[in-house]
Amino acid sequence: MSNPQVGIIMGSTSDLRIMTDAADILDELGVSYELTIVSAHRTPERLFDYSKSAKSKGLKAIIAGAGGAAHLPGMVASLTSLPVIGVPVKSSNSIDGWDSVLSILQMPGGVPVATVALDGAKNAGILAAQIVGAFDQTIGNNLDAYKEGLKDKVIAGAEKIEKEGFR
Ligand code: RP5
Repeated sequence: MSNPQVGIIMGSTSDLRIMTDAADILDELGVSYELTIVSAHRTPERLFDYSKSAKSKGLKAIIAGAGGAAHLPGMVASLTSLPVIGVPVKSSNSIDGWDSVLSILQMPGGVPVATVALDGAKNAGILAAQIVGAFDQTIGNNLDAYKEGLKDKVIAGAEKIEKEGFR
């Protein structure tokens, strides 16, 4: 397997049930990745080391998922100039998910985190592929084909309803 282009990290193994969606779509789009657990609160030194070595390792983007007091994506963004995509996870310690969303979304000026929807790991994977695909023709072509597939599904659904009715 080629060197990973994208890093997928999350605060806990309990986030895996959501974060595997990012891995699945990266597989589909032909993007290489690594996946591991890095907790901002429980393993702060590991967070520092991961973020500081990410660029020299050759990663082009980092997807970071966490829930509740979700500091992982923002702290990673504070330690690297790679693009960081944040996935708010509705975790066991989330009040209603808004805590995860706002913890990741409301970053201070100068330290952006591209925040996707609650539990939106699939879109995080697509966005990471788009970052890599802007400079990699094969992945760019895979993304074009993926988008065409989305269009085809909608048109097929519309035609079925128009022909057969909606009931
Ligand atoms: C966050 O706390 C993790 O990202 C996870 O979403 C949440 C709960 O973690 P566990 O208590 O399940 O390990 O830091």
